[in-house]
Amino acid sequence: MRKTKRLPREALSPFLLDIPGEWTMAGRPLDPIPWTAIFEQERPVEVEVGFGKGLFLTNSGVARPDTNFFGIEIVRKYQLYATERIALRNLPNVRTCCADAKRILREVVVPESVAVVHVFFPDPWWKTKHKKRLLFTREFADMVLRVLKMGGVLHFVTDVQDYFEMVTELLAGIPAFALLDPPAENNPEHDMDYLTNFERKFRREGRPIHRSRYRKV
Ligand SMILES: C[S@@+](CC[C@H](N)C(=O)[O-])C[C@H]1O[C@@H](n2cnc3c(N)ncnc32)[C@H](O)[C@@H]1O
Repeated sequence: MRKTKRLPREALSPFLLDIPGEWTMAGRPLDPIPWTAIFEQERPVEVEVGFGKGLFLTNSGVARPDTNFFGIEIVRKYQLYATERIALRNLPNVRTCCADAKRILREVVVPESVAVVHVFFPDPWWKTKHKKRLLFTREFADMVLRVLKMGGVLHFVTDVQDYFEMVTELLAGIPAFALLDPPAENNPEHDMDYLTNFERKFRREGRPIHRSRYRKV
């Protein structure tokens, strides 16, 4: 990953949402923040959990100016890397924060305020001792339901078949999630025309990708 940043921190700050005391006040509940305090204009909001290097946020922010995109990423260096791309394009409809997405979905996002939640290629945490770090649990599914508007959509993509099957089974047991037709794979027209950085890597390697979408009903 490129180390030197071309933009100073001040140039990134309009695109960052600082979560007060995210690390120092760990454990203390955070206050909900309305989207009107985060974005300049009111538009439908889509949230991406674990955006990594931010290809989806950047491409979507450019292609869909009528939508606000809010990214949550737990690793600071990825947040800064992605936010630099967003700042270089001066995207008024994209904001990022660095935090545990579970905490943000549980405490900060206003209930029933989100049109789409995207979860792309979450870490599979193969080793048994790391399984407790798995993002997509029943608790996480309930948090997604809490923030989605009625009729809102959960969009899930992974290269890991076991993970896909686990999530499919989990969500099949929650009547408030109605399975939709899966989104189609695009035909990339250039090197950055992929859903995310991980999608680009895995499709180049010829790995199968599993995709699903659910509507909150
Ligand atoms: C395998 S990477 C995929 C990155 C990106 N979605 C992509 O497809 O290119 C998973 C990402 O989720 C982030 N992540 C893991 N757990 C998280 C959490 N609890 N909250 C927010 N981000 C998280 C990781 O730091 C990492 O950037």
